[in-house]
Amino acid sequence: SKALRVALAGLGTVGAGVIKLIDTNREIVERRAGRAIEIVAVSARDRTRDRGVDLARFNWVDDAAELAAREDIDVVVELIGGADGPALTLARRTIAAGRHFVTANKAMIAHHGLGLAGDAEGKGVAFKYEAAVAGGIPVIKGLREGAAANAIGRVYGILNGTCNYILTTMEAEGRDFAEVLGEAQRLGYAEADPSFDIDGVDAAHKLSILASLSFGSKIDFGAAAISGIRHVIAADIAQAQALGYRVRLVGLAEAQPEGSTTAGLFQRVAPCLVPANHPLAHVAGSLNAVVAEGNFVGRLFFEGRGAGEGPTASAVVADLIDIARGEYGPAFAMPVESLAEMAPAPAGER
Ligand code: NDP
Ligand code: HSE
Repeated sequence: SKALRVALAGLGTVGAGVIKLIDTNREIVERRAGRAIEIVAVSARDRTRDRGVDLARFNWVDDAAELAAREDIDVVVELIGGADGPALTLARRTIAAGRHFVTANKAMIAHHGLGLAGDAEGKGVAFKYEAAVAGGIPVIKGLREGAAANAIGRVYGILNGTCNYILTTMEAEGRDFAEVLGEAQRLGYAEADPSFDIDGVDAAHKLSILASLSFGSKIDFGAAAISGIRHVIAADIAQAQALGYRVRLVGLAEAQPEGSTTAGLFQRVAPCLVPANHPLAHVAGSLNAVVAEGNFVGRLFFEGRGAGEGPTASAVVADLIDIARGEYGPAFAMPVESLAEMAPAPAGER
């Protein structure tokens, strides 16, 4: 059968990773996909930059937006980043042109995901984003499909690899915040603007997506209470350790029962004291973990690498395999028009 023809917009950490994964695992990927997956065209800002992969075999496009309507493309993969700007233009144009769309861009999904998913449903095309939350952990599929039969009471976890790398490296080596942040950036974990990581905004983007999947509700990023790790110092971590705790940046979303004074959706990202024997205390480095509590399945614990080239590419290519097989449904828990509106729970109640 015909190859799935792919365009890649963005050739940074994740984009280069996708090319390397497909080059390395082509046989596995194509056997699972049931057909060839062929990168046809690519776009980035700097044509001359060495990205550690051979780009001469692909068509280079200066303006990523042009990828949307190319006749020789079935699916556009957006790996540029940013909630608006070129990423959003590309998403809208690709879906409007009736082509499948894959992204790792949690900022764009937190702000515009419902509109984009609704447009994709209208056009009958895929809108996929497995890489956007917790990197290589298949948590989108796990919650949307694997746990679909459950009422989920709460979902929480460690959702930012950069912060977890910083906190756990400071913990293990007593090193300075700024020095460890620089290392996380060099390793390709951090956002282009790392304040999104350290101020908790990236974790809140992801939390709002997990909440939507868990509770069948509309994404409500604006209702999340957010604090980050900018002001955590080595002495805080040492003191927590002495008392039997670890410091972790935790995102938690909980559906508060109707009729109670706290009714609504509670979403919060904050540095927390985690008891040393809690599973989240053992999540170190760039690992992420997501815990979801379902009324029939019980506690689910997902753990894996949450950032970096390999894990993120793994999730992006999994989305391409689903599209190649024709296996995709609604992007969220159900079609966008069926998602519930949940009022935010009063902020001061917890
Ligand atoms: P990078 O900053 O490494 O790469 C971004 C790429 O986008 C670069 O190749 C850049 O080009 C290109 N770019 C920027 N502007 C344009 C434009 N106008 N048109 C075309 N290309 C453009 O980011 P990452 O690879 O780290 O992240 C990409 C996306 O994946 C983001 O949404 C991020 O949040 C998400 N993500 C990242 C993870 C990670 O671990 N890094 C994990 C999960 C998700 P050039 O190289 O020429 O400058
Ligand atoms: N900057 C993000 C992180 C990338 O550190 O978790 C993965 O989404």
